[in-house]
Amino acid sequence: MSGRQLHLNVNLLHSGVYPSAWRLPESRPDAFIDIDHFVRVARIAERGKLDAIFLADTPAINDRIDYRPFNALEPTVVLAAVAAATSHVGLVATASTTYNEPYNLARRFASLDLVSRGRAGWNVVTTADAAAGRNFGFAGASEHGARYARAREFTDLVHALWDSWEDDAFVGDKSSGRFVDTAKVHAIDHRGAHYTVAGPLTVPRSPQGRPVTFQAGGSEDGRELAAATADAVFSLAQTIEDGAAYARDLRTRAVRYGRPPDALVILPGLATVIGSTEAEAQRRQDELWDLVPVEYSLARLAGTLRIDPARLDLDKPLPDPLPLPPDANHTMFLGTVALARRDKLTVRRLLRALGGGVGHRIVVGTPEAIADDIEAWFRAGAADGFNLMPDVLPDGLETFVDAVVPILQRRGLFRQDYAGATLRDHLGLARPANRYAATGRSLSA
Ligand SMILES: Cc1cc2nc3c(=O)[nH]c(=O)nc-3n(C[C@H](O)[C@H](O)[C@H](O)COP(=O)(O)O)c2cc1C
Repeated sequence: MSGRQLHLNVNLLHSGVYPSAWRLPESRPDAFIDIDHFVRVARIAERGKLDAIFLADTPAINDRIDYRPFNALEPTVVLAAVAAATSHVGLVATASTTYNEPYNLARRFASLDLVSRGRAGWNVVTTADAAAGRNFGFAGASEHGARYARAREFTDLVHALWDSWEDDAFVGDKSSGRFVDTAKVHAIDHRGAHYTVAGPLTVPRSPQGRPVTFQAGGSEDGRELAAATADAVFSLAQTIEDGAAYARDLRTRAVRYGRPPDALVILPGLATVIGSTEAEAQRRQDELWDLVPVEYSLARLAGTLRIDPARLDLDKPLPDPLPLPPDANHTMFLGTVALARRDKLTVRRLLRALGGGVGHRIVVGTPEAIADDIEAWFRAGAADGFNLMPDVLPDGLETFVDAVVPILQRRGLFRQDYAGATLRDHLGLARPANRYAATGRSLSA
């Protein structure tokens, strides 16, 4: 196998990307709080040689839980348990820069990297959700630009803390009695606009040097943060042209930060509904869609657009104009509006196209058709791989692994087996150099 290889990550959205997934006969309603479910999905991902599993998160109830499961459990706790039950698959958890302290977060992810022997990733989010703000003493979400200014300092600071121990600082030499070489453990002495942190971290340098940094911001601020700090991005694109334009833009920005253009692994979202025939896949989608209450998907759409659901008429197009709200999730807002306007959809048809979701592309078809779609995006430079969102979990992932992965392998696009042990190895990312090696102020100075 040679040439550029695909990267596949699965978004472990509890019962699946369809809000109705939990209602299918094979689904268990309590899967969202059952560690056996997460382990089962992770093991299927590992059997398929996928790069990683990913858990989204918001520190608030931000969905209509009267209708569907949600992200209840804290992701790094879940992934620590999954780490013990798996050996290779990467483990990516979301954590907010708005509602954490950098020191706690750096310590948590460095710990996960050690516990998992080098498989941890951090999805950096700023949390656009107003309900989250109310859980932390604020009236709502802070303004978009302010969230990203804080996120930039936060992320740089976390990276500095991950570097605060040099690779060989831990000695553990019984004969000399030297436990840690404190000349190789560095204070970071950070004093910035938002944070003051002395360092060093409590955790010795973790197996990957730094856990892999993911980011998913599609706005101007989000792209700048990704270009400056991320190793991989989750993007949202509906067409190959949009995906390719986004990838070009991000790579150009990365070069401006002195990074190589291929420093970033770009993973657009891809929701899948797979059937052994086209008709069977369509029937499966119909079945899932018929179980989504319209009042739920309307409320979800109104939430993305930050408007009153009463302004949405099922048989009319979206209201026009629709100004971009300053505190919104720009990527999901713009992706949703672009889809509606491009295909001239009524609200009813838009809801179906979104599948009750938030704007990720849905591909419905046979394994061959799904593989063709993936290959076309990959070859066009619109994706380095995908953030897969199976319709139903674990069922939809099992079908993907058993039916689509072998096609991609036969085409020489996807690994037959893991070549390395860490998430950086899977993603083809170099182990980062330690910025303090032989330069920073050490504990013993
Ligand atoms: C695949 C994907 C997963 C995301 N997961 C989360 C998440 O778990 N928590 C969260 O608060 N935001 C999440 N987001 C939102 C992004 O972090 C970001 O806020 C959003 O894409 C809007 O972009 P902007 O912040 O640049 O406006 C996700 C976005 C994407 C595309």
